[in-house]
Amino acid sequence: MQRTHNRSEASRLDSERHLHPYTHPRKIEADGPVVISGGDGIWVVDEDGNRYMEGLAGLWCASLGFSERRLADAAYRQMLELPFYHSFAGRVPEVTARLAAKLMDWSPLPFARVLFANSGSESNDAAFKLVHYYNNAKGRPRKKKIIARDRSYHGSTAVASAMSGLSAARKVFELDIPGIVRISCPHYYAYGLPGETIEQFSDRLVEELEQTILREGPETVAAFIAEPVIGGGGVVIPPPGYYDGIQAILRKYDILFIADEVISGFGRLGEAFGSTVFGLKPDMITVAKMLSAAYAPISALYLSEDIYETIKQGSDTVGVFGHGFTYSGHPVAAAVALETLRIYEDDGILDHVRRVAPRFQDGLQALSDHPLVGDVRGMGLIGAIELAEQPALRKPFAPEKGVGAYFLGRALANGLILRAVPGDIITFAPPLIINEAEIDDLMSRVRLSLDETSSWLRQQA
Ligand SMILES: Cc1ncc(COP(=O)(O)O)c(C=O)c1O
Repeated sequence: MQRTHNRSEASRLDSERHLHPYTHPRKIEADGPVVISGGDGIWVVDEDGNRYMEGLAGLWCASLGFSERRLADAAYRQMLELPFYHSFAGRVPEVTARLAAKLMDWSPLPFARVLFANSGSESNDAAFKLVHYYNNAKGRPRKKKIIARDRSYHGSTAVASAMSGLSAARKVFELDIPGIVRISCPHYYAYGLPGETIEQFSDRLVEELEQTILREGPETVAAFIAEPVIGGGGVVIPPPGYYDGIQAILRKYDILFIADEVISGFGRLGEAFGSTVFGLKPDMITVAKMLSAAYAPISALYLSEDIYETIKQGSDTVGVFGHGFTYSGHPVAAAVALETLRIYEDDGILDHVRRVAPRFQDGLQALSDHPLVGDVRGMGLIGAIELAEQPALRKPFAPEKGVGAYFLGRALANGLILRAVPGDIITFAPPLIINEAEIDDLMSRVRLSLDETSSWLRQQA
């Protein structure tokens, strides 16, 4: 299917007025955006009626696809009942209270409380603030540094982007906030040394964490933040044993663990939480995205008993817990999130993910014989293929060749929306409701687009 390209009024108006997130403004000015006007299951439809399979569930978030009636009804009912109320100063919308309780039912660990916000970035920002609050309240004002990993993505608020390891999120804004310390990304394919086994690689990274803590001074290091599986940095699955080593070091130096489960939370990896998959015992967990199937903006931060109790005692000095947004726990978003979790339960979404994940992972692995593919990796319903000029040598294409971008253009023309991250890594995270026939369809479109990319490269040579 070829996308018909006529600049509609919406496209023209948009390109003249709208600064798009994570997009080169010149690209929008030149081409205009693809204007999406509808959705149906795992498909979205543009204003010309072209249908695209959403291979990344939007931004790793539309778990239930784009036409779940129950969520629309839940939002509508809540709008009629109580369209807004806040949770400040001793009030709470009833539905928000119910969502807090439901989140505890889903919780992978015995957390004490949830703190609501409107996005993954805001919740990670709150985690950063709480780390400061916690150590101030404990009388350890020097223990403030946060260790984050290269290629992580924690969001776009000032602090969340400062914690992120993706350079586009940070450098141009000069957001190198003091006290954020970075360590290596656990991506063996890219950073394993010649002759190094994956076990040795894992041990080296754990050792790097300890050396970093010792260099900075353990009395100054407060927390470690990590996505169980790095998403936006290219779907990085850590080596076996990595988190056991990391967690032992964190415990040894009394360092909090913040698990950013904004992508992995609610089934992406085949368990409700990535923490369960990897045996993590975090002190805080950030969730967003699939919490509401992305039908309304809402996020939450799970807090351990220790953190909650410390905040409670610390609040005696100021009289309140001085943090929150007008829309923290917004009732319409809360109603949508609550209904999302009920759908996950009623429809056995986790079982479904576990059932179809092997088809998805096998489909990705089958692409490893393609001459453009250097690495294939994934887990549950997330995955990536890393394109390479010389796969056997793990040699990437020169960035200026734009191979990933070309591939994405072919995929779009073939009715498939995917995203690439720097390094020509093509990422996959379809809606959790995808079925096996749709997975096969997705893989055929990927193979066709890879073949077309190969032909293009041959013409360039
Ligand atoms: C792991 C992770 N954390 C945080 C965020 C930021 O979430 P939001 O865009 O909702 O602010 C994202 C967004 O993609 C993410 O992937």
